[in-house]
Amino acid sequence: MTTDFYDDLVAEARALLDGESDPVANAANLSALLYMRLPDVNWVGFYFMRSGELVVGPFNGHPACTRIALGQGVCGTAMAEQRTQRVADVHAFKGHIVCDPNSRSELVVPLGDLGVLDLDSPSPGRFGEVDQEGLERIATVYLESIA
Ligand code: SME
Repeated sequence: MTTDFYDDLVAEARALLDGESDPVANAANLSALLYMRLPDVNWVGFYFMRSGELVVGPFNGHPACTRIALGQGVCGTAMAEQRTQRVADVHAFKGHIVCDPNSRSELVVPLGDLGVLDLDSPSPGRFGEVDQEGLERIATVYLESIA
């Protein structure tokens, strides 16, 4: 995807969340928007920190793992390290947690203390640097909306 694509998507996300600050409502609508707009993704959603572990929140896609321990899998690693994890081949990521066997690549953006935004694709190497930057901007839009 291009930077122009993400400029438009960021504007669309801002407009969608404008005037609402409920974390669940905004996570639900943002998941739906990303799932609808991004080609070649099979899961988009949120995991929220609950009593020291990640618990699945609003998402679009197949039913997913409910709980992920801090430091486990791609999501738990992003949360523990507070750094985006961009995994070109999930089979090569030690400890990757399989929710949907169709998933081949993954991008997980941490949301501070709150949890993570997770995107999966059935294509290896689906997420590039521009996607990472764009989705980090989208995560900021979400965090600003609920602040
Ligand atoms: N693959 C993730 C688990 C969450 S699902 O992809 C929805 C992980 O390794 O943390």
